[in-house]
Amino acid sequence: MSQVEFQNVGKLYTQNVWAVENFSLHIPNGQFVSFLGPSGCGKTTTLRMLAGLEKNTHGQIKINDVTVSDPAQKKFTPPEKRKIGMVFQSYAVWPHMTVFENIAYPLKIQKVEKEDIQKAVIEILKVVEMDGLADRKPHQLSGGQQQRVALARGLAMKPQILLMDEPLSNLDAKLREKMRRDIREIQKQLKLTMVYVTHDQKEAFQMSDLVVVMNKGQIMQVSSPEQIQKSPANDFVKNFIDHE
Ligand SMILES: Nc1ncnc2c1ncn2[C@@H]1O[C@H](COP(=O)(O)OP(=O)(O)O)[C@@H](O)[C@H]1O
Ligand SMILES: [Mg+2]
Repeated sequence: MSQVEFQNVGKLYTQNVWAVENFSLHIPNGQFVSFLGPSGCGKTTTLRMLAGLEKNTHGQIKINDVTVSDPAQKKFTPPEKRKIGMVFQSYAVWPHMTVFENIAYPLKIQKVEKEDIQKAVIEILKVVEMDGLADRKPHQLSGGQQQRVALARGLAMKPQILLMDEPLSNLDAKLREKMRRDIREIQKQLKLTMVYVTHDQKEAFQMSDLVVVMNKGQIMQVSSPEQIQKSPANDFVKNFIDHE
């Protein structure tokens, strides 16, 4: 389950700008998949189309064999119905809310019972190793802790699929290293299907089961980290991994 299928997905902005073109990809259940490529190659747009925050203009997107977006058939499932968690680069934790309130927010919106919210938040705080910090405000937390709150909020709805867009780029190198391991650990523990966007090849290779190398809105290669490093599919991939 939780398979994601992109079939010839495209995003054509006005003025004939293809942000993403002819993108076809199958993501098996429980896999950690990274979109890797230079700035502007279409990573964020692809992730947002999967979340339903952006509409693909071409092709189809399926989640668990159900079509969630197909412009030709005028089909579109809104984000809140896709059961997908999302964590962005800017932590986007709300400064006026406590840790508890930040994580509880998506559950409140979905009108989950108070008691169940309490339980869920406590449980998720343990997963992200933030127990005991529920009453803090974001300004009383380190950058890494704030990012954990954002992660916890993304996990609050118990999504099967979690999307992360360059979530660690604001952290210093040492913390980044620890968060990479922790995120991978949590992904395995919760058996999440993860789609992770990064321009950092080290990060992609270290964390992923499958790496999707992108350039100019198109897929260059889809392989395991080992395979990509051993046999890059073309000159673009070769240069990209040589030069970082
Ligand atoms: N709202 C928009 N209107 C027009 N072009 C856009 C818009 N958003 C993104 N783009 C273009 O789409 C391409 C892909 O962008 P993006 O998905 O943000 O790339 P990445 O996340 O890999 O850096 C870029 O050329 C970008 O300029
Ligand atoms: Mg981006």
